[in-house]
This record gives sequence, structure tokens and C-alpha cells, in this order.
Amino acid sequence: MLGAKVGRRNAEELRAALSRAGLLDKKHAIIDDADNVIIPVTSEPPRSMLEANSGTMIEADFPTRKQRRDPIELIREAADIPDRLLRLLPSKWERLGDIGVIRLDDALNPYEDKVAEAYARVLRLKTVLREVGGIEGEFRRPVSRVVFGRDTVTTHLENGIRYRLDVADIMFSSGNEEERIRMAGIRCDDETVVDMFAGIGYFSLPLAVYQKPRKIVACEINPKAHSYLVENIALNGAGARVQPFLGDNRTLAGESFADRVVMGYVKTTHEFLPVALRYLRDGGVLHYHETCPNALISQRPLQRLKEAAQRRNVEVLRFKEIKSYAPGVSHVVLDARINAHA
Ligand SMILES: C[S@@+](CC[C@H](N)C(=O)[O-])C[C@H]1O[C@@H](n2cnc3c(N)ncnc32)[C@H](O)[C@@H]1O
Repeated sequence: MLGAKVGRRNAEELRAALSRAGLLDKKHAIIDDADNVIIPVTSEPPRSMLEANSGTMIEADFPTRKQRRDPIELIREAADIPDRLLRLLPSKWERLGDIGVIRLDDALNPYEDKVAEAYARVLRLKTVLREVGGIEGEFRRPVSRVVFGRDTVTTHLENGIRYRLDVADIMFSSGNEEERIRMAGIRCDDETVVDMFAGIGYFSLPLAVYQKPRKIVACEINPKAHSYLVENIALNGAGARVQPFLGDNRTLAGESFADRVVMGYVKTTHEFLPVALRYLRDGGVLHYHETCPNALISQRPLQRLKEAAQRRNVEVLRFKEIKSYAPGVSHVVLDARINAHA
């Protein structure tokens, strides 16, 4: 096979020139040879290109470059289903730890097992769940069914934080990832934080692990989610900073004790504003989430917050769309400082 031998210093320049000229052999890997490298080529490059980089042509045996193939191609190959259905295999899926969640077209129903097995095999999943509904009820439970494997409990790693959860029973929205990561960067030194909808620690853990709050009161009403929250606090060494509270977030004692209140909930979050504002001291910060029709995004979240704040002053710090929630509806977050009435 043909290769261009070149000193290490000029290697990148020659490689780029060969690539631009369409002469780089991408099926084979570059050879490292002491002070030189040998770049595989598909045919002899112009002499001027070699000379410009002090390269010479040689014969060499190049190792084959491992081809990275799109997993969906491998899944299509692995799925033992009629060819006409292959195009229906979803090219997107959720992966939480070693568990996969897929949504399938009904035409694939007779082949559900085979399809699930193909995803499991190619993506190396211990269990595959099929999403059969949305996220339901006060506890925000996902509606899904196991279609491969058995064990639905896993540990999902995100941003250096380990979240243990039962994927069949507890939601974990990949669309909220950016927001979970943003919370990790919110300075809250020495603050008392109330996380009103803590779940398994989606926001409490990033704050506790990456910042130095004095205390985070993490409220969770679902005993199952609360028990994973307790486990995750330990798993991430956040026990000194996070106090899990099992129960309704409206039942905390006291008022004006929180420097920050996190309201990571959808649909009815506004109903909890009066209680959040009762906990928040003057000058404290609220992270208010809302699912809002797109046509109302520029007014409704702030309007609701101002109404709940009554005579207190609302200072908007930041407003952001987190994700599309449903057609024409967005999940947004408004950060605001609530100041005493001037
Ligand atoms: C699932 S989380 C929201 C998702 C999260 N923002 C994320 O990043 O994926 C919402 C949690 O609030 C809990 N919850 C709902 N109402 C509550 C209440 N009144 N008090 C405490 N927790 C509540 C639910 O059980 C659920 O676990």
C-alpha cells in the first residue's frame, strides 16, 4: 500500500492537504514511526505537495481503521423482522445507565420481542422498556412496559453525578439535562435552599455536589422517589448538605427562611407559588418552572409570579426555554429575585 512519510512537525499539514485533495485513505490508520508518521493515501499525491512538507512516498502495510458505524444501522442488521418494517425501527432512544427506553410503531407489535432484543444486543442493554404512554399524575410516573430483560433499576451517570432509579417507575427527562447541569453552576455558598419537587435529586444533587450550600431541604412526596433520593444522597456523598423530606412540600414549618427555592415541576407549578414565596426570604431567588403555551411565553410566567408575589418586587434574573413539552407548549424556567416591597 502507498504511504506518504513525513516528519512529525509537518504531518498535520500534509494530512490536511491530502484530505483536501481527496487522496487520504480513510480506511487505513496512520502509522507512528519514531520521528515520522506514514499517512496512507489512495494514489500518489502531486510532487509539489510532498516537497512543501518534506515528504516522500513509500510502501507500507497499514492497519485497517476501525469503522464506527451508526448504531441504528447495526440494529437494522440485527433485527430479525421483515425488511419492509426496518424503516420503522426508531433511530432515537433514551438510555439511562444500562437500560434503554424505546417508542415503537404499532406495526412492529408482532415483532416487539425481536426488536427489543436487537436494541439490547447492539446497545448492550440489560433491559429495554417500551414507552406506552406519557408521564402521569402527581408523582410524574412514566408509563412503560418491559420488553426485554427484567431488572428495571439502574444507576445513570450524568455530569459526574450518579442517579440510581427504577426506570419503570420514576421519570428521568433527558430534555432537562441542560437545566440539571446549569444548576450545578449556580453559586449558593452558605445558602438554605428548598427544592420543592426533589424527585431522586435531579437539582438538589448538582447543587450539593458542585456548590457549597449550607443546607438543601429536598422535598419529595412519592415514597419510592424519596427512597431513591436518600440512596442518591449517600451515593454522591452529599449527606452533609442535603436533608431529604418525605411529604408534601406545602407542609414545611416556618417562613422567610430560604435563600433559594427550586420549583422543578410542570403543569401546576403556579399553584405552589404562594407557599414558595412564603418560604423565601426577601432578597431570595426563585427558580420557577412552567409549562406554557408558546403564544403566552413572553407574559404568563412572569405575570403569575408577580401576582403571587403581591406587593413584593420581582426582579427577573434570567428566562429560558428548557425544551418543547408538547406541540405548541414549552417547558420554561424563570429565575427571579424577590425583594421586599420598596
Ligand atoms: C419528577 S420531578 C420533575 C422532573 C425534574 N425536574 C427533572 O429534571 O427531570 C417532580 C417530583 O415532584 C414530586 N412532587 C409532586 N408534588 C409534590 C409535592 N406537593 N410535594 C413534594 N413533592 C412533590 C413528584 O412526586 C416528582 O417526583
